[in-house]
Amino acid sequence: MFALPLAALLLAATASAQQDYTAAHNVTPITGTWSSGSKHVVTGAGFANPAQESFTYPNTTGVSYSFSDDGWYEVARYRFASNASEPNCIIGTVVWVHGHYDLVSNGSIVLTPVGDGYQQVQAPCAATSNFIQNYNFTELFQSWQIFMDPTDGPKLHLFQFDGSPVAPLFQLSPSPNMLPKQVLRNVTANVVTVTSDGLVTTQTQGSRKKRSNGAPELQRPLGAIAGLVVVAMVSTLL
Ligand SMILES: *[C@@H]1O[C@H](CO)[C@@H](O)[C@H](O)[C@H]1NC(C)=O
Ligand SMILES: *[C@@H]1O[C@H](CO)[C@@H](O)[C@H](O)[C@H]1NC(C)=O
Ligand SMILES: *[C@@H]1O[C@H](CO)[C@@H](O)[C@H](O)[C@H]1NC(C)=O
Ligand SMILES: *[C@@H]1O[C@H](CO)[C@@H](O)[C@H](O)[C@H]1NC(C)=O
Ligand SMILES: *[C@@H]1O[C@H](CO)[C@@H](O)[C@H](O)[C@H]1NC(C)=O
Repeated sequence: MFALPLAALLLAATASAQQDYTAAHNVTPITGTWSSGSKHVVTGAGFANPAQESFTYPNTTGVSYSFSDDGWYEVARYRFASNASEPNCIIGTVVWVHGHYDLVSNGSIVLTPVGDGYQQVQAPCAATSNFIQNYNFTELFQSWQIFMDPTDGPKLHLFQFDGSPVAPLFQLSPSPNMLPKQVLRNVTANVVTVTSDGLVTTQTQGSRKKRSNGAPELQRPLGAIAGLVVVAMVSTLL
């Protein structure tokens, strides 16, 4: 009997998803720039220069997400993690990626990259210790919610595919601070390398050329120990 009106309601909800998912999810729209912790990691030109495959390393570790109202997202992430089998081998990763996001009607968010993302990996105990490679992984967040924090304002909680939470993200600005919403790096000239520990890395010609003097060394920021996560499966990072 009310199957039809319900379907129409769901359709209407999906259509307006970009602006307002549900009141329970949103004290404010998801559009804007968000950053974790001390808010030093911020998407946009201050973090990554895709044409140069370079980064400006923030002073603290963290993650930043931006969402535009026309469906683009951008991620900036800087972190150090310990190698589970060798706790002294601290693996540093710096990631920049952007693409299109979908607010799915079941409450999930899907982030689909456009293919020009890249990451720097510094793994002192691995055969290839410091390199830059393509990074093009689709991310699924099972659910999300925006709360109003009495002191910090809007606070975005993202829950990963397995339900585990990302560090709370604070809104830096309601309009997104992002690099241009287009493909920003030529990734057609790739070489595939298999390192001695069996990890397959896809490196770009550009980063290969830079290998002679290596990627710039990552300096673990003071206080990063507190933010260390133990990586059970190093392969998820690479
Ligand atoms: C890091 O801190 C130094 C000293 O306060 C400052 O000069 C520099 O601009 C900061 N770097 C970034 C990327 O914010
Ligand atoms: C990046 O991933 C997306 C989503 O899986 C895919 O459509 C696209 O072809 C990939 N791009 C490259 C350059 O691998
Ligand atoms: C982690 O430690 C193991 C054991 O020393 C080593 O073989 C492996 O290459 C390390 N992985 C990375 C990514 O550093
Ligand atoms: C929502 O839909 C997406 C895309 O179809 C799917 O990958 C995800 O697992 C779904 N989320 C939940 C919580 O069922
Ligand atoms: C990308 O690089 C390839 C190989 O060097 C080159 O043939 C191609 O023209 C480049 N494409 C763009 C859009 O610059």
